[in-house]
Amino acid sequence: MKRRAFVISTLGTAMASRLSGLPLGNIVDGSTTRIESEDINSRALLRDEYDLHFLAVGDWGRNGADHQIQVAQQMGKWASEHPNDFIISTGDNFYPSGVASEHDPLWHYSFENVYTDFSLQWDWYPILGNHDYKSDPDAQIRYSSISRRWKMPARYYSKTFKIKDDVEVLFAFIDTNPLIPEFYQNSEYGPHVSGQQPEKQIAWLDELLQSSKAKWKIVVGHHPLYTAGPRTENYDTLAVRKVLQPLLTKHRIPLYLSGHEHSMQHLKMDNNCFHQFISGSGSEVTPVKKGLSYSRFEASIYGFMYFSLNQDRLQVQCIDHQGNVIYRTILSSGTP
Ligand SMILES: [Fe+2]
Repeated sequence: MKRRAFVISTLGTAMASRLSGLPLGNIVDGSTTRIESEDINSRALLRDEYDLHFLAVGDWGRNGADHQIQVAQQMGKWASEHPNDFIISTGDNFYPSGVASEHDPLWHYSFENVYTDFSLQWDWYPILGNHDYKSDPDAQIRYSSISRRWKMPARYYSKTFKIKDDVEVLFAFIDTNPLIPEFYQNSEYGPHVSGQQPEKQIAWLDELLQSSKAKWKIVVGHHPLYTAGPRTENYDTLAVRKVLQPLLTKHRIPLYLSGHEHSMQHLKMDNNCFHQFISGSGSEVTPVKKGLSYSRFEASIYGFMYFSLNQDRLQVQCIDHQGNVIYRTILSSGTP
């Protein structure tokens, strides 16, 4: 029995008892009514054939400007109407220059006061983008101890979810910024990549992907390895590709998710095992190139992605700032 129906029924019974002058116990049948919180939660009705669902949004923090608000509103609407377990941020969380501290007002103006829908109060798993490296990246880690929903335990970290039949899904949330050699000489990035020991992170990732028994292994980093956007041959794209492609190939990783390019893309090279998705248009958009052989979808449109997976299949949908589904694809487990 749903809560509203139960309350109405109980009140009606009590009123009838009072009116008739009979003790309440003479009217109710004596059976115990048990209400589970799941029964009264409308989200419990949002179930489909998939076991795990998440949104992915990137490149967003602009105090609500340049369509950040519109994308946030559609994220809230979508997550209210569809099953959703958490939200991934693919980096560049705060423009133009990250946050100065865990008390920076940008937390309010670019995050808390923008992603306000109740359906977005679930866990967020963020990573760091290059713009986040222009101030104190560790402030975004420290904010995790203030916020209930912001979950960033370190600059890189992992999270494993169990779905049906104890099947595991592994997420490796990595920090691509220290993997770019040019950043160490850069006046803005340099002070914050200094001492980051990229070889240590790579060894951690290699061991994590090697030892995990997860059915799905998903790597999330800010910089893409390939792109149909303006940075196709940029130094950062090439640097991250050089370091990560051998690892993704070695461990047969099916999915690499990034941001950085301000568009939505689905890329797949014939000779690579991994599909690459770019969700980086949480506010601003930049142009995309048409006709690249490895691009299955590219759109210079504000929006976010929605992932649904079970042990056999993974569905990806791109939703724009007006709530339109502009792309949908399904990947099968074990087939590139
Ligand atoms: Fe970026």
